[in-house]
Amino acid sequence: MADLKIAPSILSADFARLGEEVAAIDKAGCDYIHIDVMDGHFVPNLTMGPPVIKALRGCSDKPFDVHLMIDPAAPYLADYADAGADIITVHAEADIHLHRNLQVIRGLGKKAGVSINPSTPAAAVAPVLDDVDLILVMSVNPGFGGQSYISSVTPKIAEIKAMIGDRPVELEVDGGVKPDNVAEVAAAGANVVVAGSAVFHGNDYAATIGALRDAAGG
Ligand code: DX5
Ligand code: ZN
Repeated sequence: MADLKIAPSILSADFARLGEEVAAIDKAGCDYIHIDVMDGHFVPNLTMGPPVIKALRGCSDKPFDVHLMIDPAAPYLADYADAGADIITVHAEADIHLHRNLQVIRGLGKKAGVSINPSTPAAAVAPVLDDVDLILVMSVNPGFGGQSYISSVTPKIAEIKAMIGDRPVELEVDGGVKPDNVAEVAAAGANVVVAGSAVFHGNDYAATIGALRDAAGG
């Protein structure tokens, strides 16, 4: 897939130089800036919140793809919109009122995403297919960068791709995506891939982004 979008996750960036890192992946040709927000409750790790996102907003004009791994998310959606998120993704497993959260995100003028964990079936997104702009399929258990791709998720990507049909919904895959497995992910139907450690642990961000695109197209 030649038009595969690459969304480097800044979770694997050098946090002491976060603004420079965001500017560097922008310059290296990424499509989205993927920002992992963790609360130490929904996932066993803590990362960053709205003030950090707001501070980074001046470092890139590319869409901020904000992945909320927080429960509840509802009380904070407006804060992430105000901070500069372009896409706000909530987990189907968090909160109770998924549909309401998606409506709120769109009401804030942002793109609404829903994410599901590796053990959550595709059917969880069926009721909201017409209420989302993006579906984020986790291919690792959320919480940490640098984990291995869970290959049993691949058929679920294809299943969701078929469920989306001709709706204008992006299909993003997050976790353990590398140049050596991105072809499998793209062939299953993903049009956006998150790549954290693959991009930031290499020393040439543009080369890695190019390698991911090339491998997906091959
Ligand atoms: C995991 C995060 C991912 C992660 C991806 O909870 O949602 O975005 O940073 O990192 P890699 O690409 O290293 O698996
Ligand atoms: Zn993520």
